[in-house]
Amino acid sequence: SERNKGGDRVHNKRTKRRLPQCIIIGVRKAGTRALLQFLDLHPAIAAQKQEMHFFDDDEHYARGLAWYRKRMPRTRPEQVTIEKTPAYFVESAVPERVRDMDRSTKLLLILRDPIERAISDYVQIHSTKSAMGKYHESFDELVIDPDTGQVDADYRPIERSVYHKHLSRWLEYFSLSQLHIVNGENLIRDPVAELRKVETFLGLDHRISAESFYYNKTKGFYCMRLQRRQKCLSPSKGRRHPDISPTTMKVLREFFRPLNSKLYDMIGVNFGWN
Ligand code: A3P
Repeated sequence: SERNKGGDRVHNKRTKRRLPQCIIIGVRKAGTRALLQFLDLHPAIAAQKQEMHFFDDDEHYARGLAWYRKRMPRTRPEQVTIEKTPAYFVESAVPERVRDMDRSTKLLLILRDPIERAISDYVQIHSTKSAMGKYHESFDELVIDPDTGQVDADYRPIERSVYHKHLSRWLEYFSLSQLHIVNGENLIRDPVAELRKVETFLGLDHRISAESFYYNKTKGFYCMRLQRRQKCLSPSKGRRHPDISPTTMKVLREFFRPLNSKLYDMIGVNFGWN
């Protein structure tokens, strides 16, 4: 027996663990946790909350699909199993491996202004325990090559923001129709509207409604209204960003402008960044 979302015991012989039919592939720091938690409000969605790192970690992958499937939640046949591992988007072995599991897998990718995402990535890197208390270089110092005054494109937070490059690898194995791109800025401003598009993409009824959310002024973000309590994302989501010098911002905007255009051409959507 197991419990449903309301906490009642349910005995249902038709529940079993299934491979995910939908994967949130990334991108790191664009709102992947919010997307997964919010989608899990839908009765026909069952989320694996832990990042599985199945397709990007060779040791995990070597354990095979049966190992992966056993780590998924039990579901009824009409439910969609979802997992999210943001590293999938940028790790080059992953698209082919997901295709080999099931070529009809639905892919969710959440994107956010690449500069904001890079800053968030920098903040994340320097907030880990090992970095705590240590002197660390400013974002400006890390992002601009002092010799050339240009953006260091190999700096990981920048490299991970070059969306078109990573996406083109996925499009070698999946068609655009199997991919839905969630607008990270919209998910912050108006989660219900952005989630409706995902429900449509997954072929599900619109069941996530405004009643499930309230704006938390202290946090500065929408939080969830659950049956018995309210739930915000953890304090590590929605961190303060450092101030960036105007010169660095200008160099970054020039660096990303043509890259953003390439992405817009690739997907046929203009996010209006820059
Ligand atoms: P910041 O901490 O830079 O603001 P991920 O889950 O992929 O690591 O993404 C983290 C980002 O999710 C946060 O980045 C924040 O902007 C965004 N986010 C979107 N909706 C949110 C929400 N309702 N509560 C908190 N953070 C949210």
